[in-house]
Amino acid sequence: MGTRPKVSIIGAGNVGATSAHWIASKELADVVLVDIVEGMPQGKALDLFEASPIEGFDCQLVGSNDYAATAESDIVVITSGLPRKPGMSRDDLLAKNVAIAKEVTANVAKHSPNAMLIVVANPLDAIVYAAWKVSGFATHKVMGMAGILDSARFRSFIAEELKVSVKDVTAFVLGGHGDTMVPLPRYSAVAGIPLPDLVAKDRLEALVQRTRDGGAEIVKLLKTGSAYYAPSAAVAEMVEAIVKDKKRILPCAAYCDKEYNVGGYFVGVPVLLGAGGVERVIQVQMTPDESAAFARSVDHVKDLVKATEKLLAS
Ligand code: NAI
Ligand code: 2OP
Repeated sequence: MGTRPKVSIIGAGNVGATSAHWIASKELADVVLVDIVEGMPQGKALDLFEASPIEGFDCQLVGSNDYAATAESDIVVITSGLPRKPGMSRDDLLAKNVAIAKEVTANVAKHSPNAMLIVVANPLDAIVYAAWKVSGFATHKVMGMAGILDSARFRSFIAEELKVSVKDVTAFVLGGHGDTMVPLPRYSAVAGIPLPDLVAKDRLEALVQRTRDGGAEIVKLLKTGSAYYAPSAAVAEMVEAIVKDKKRILPCAAYCDKEYNVGGYFVGVPVLLGAGGVERVIQVQMTPDESAAFARSVDHVKDLVKATEKLLAS
């Protein structure tokens, strides 16, 4: 590997491989893909490398079944884990995915003690907590991807509803990555115009509900797995913010203690993302209703973390 940033992606399945695709095509970093399936990460990395002359990106792409290839990564993206099948909730994945995260994170931390971790595997808020605990990394170096995806879904539905460019739509989704997530229309806007001024209340509620169900809508259509194009684009946006020190304000699962009175859990909040990782948690004012919805979501995350602690100890 050369002087470009190095990003390792653990789990070369749908989200992992597509993240490699976006990261390489945007020339953000050299990429190492790791999976337990023999030959698969090697094959996908080689295939992607062979696309580089056509697309014109200069990145090294390597696949491996051995963590030695990930040594001294700047960022490690953890996608290894089972995806949902129709009828399953993200929480149904907990026991299997905590076990995978435990093994994977220990290997990652051993080979890249200075890396930032971007966790993707579900249930997200629990797995990011597990990765933090197992790695022993500082809280600002560990984060989960979910809010960018959830708010991108909300943005897509708003743009479709109002027949405007997605570029002019910003949206806010906070809380856990699950059925209790909290889309905040008051902080969502089209070219600066608050969403509640543009969309009738009943339509707005329908868009909010579709956002909450966004992951399940894709699972129902795909039948054999869950979403990966939008999730991996969200991963690439986080990688870009860090490697280019963009100081983006993006919703991510970040460690909150006093912030929002969360008390030491990872939940979806707006953060300032740059070369220092989560450089700051941005606090916004909430109405009593919004605060109550956020608190319900945090309570659900706390329950998941309690179960995660037990699994990690076993
Ligand atoms: P996938 O099944 O396509 O890929 C997962 C990969 O992980 C497989 O290739 C598998 O061989 C690998 N793997 C399993 N155990 C491993 C281990 N111990 N070490 C290394 N690799 C291992 O699944 P997909 O669609 O890529 O999803 C991955 C995870 O991300 C799932 O848990 C899914 O629910 C979650 N997800 C989370 C999102 C979010 O917003 N946070 C969005 C989309 C997916
Ligand atoms: C999603 O929201 C599966 O969590 C993933 O699509």
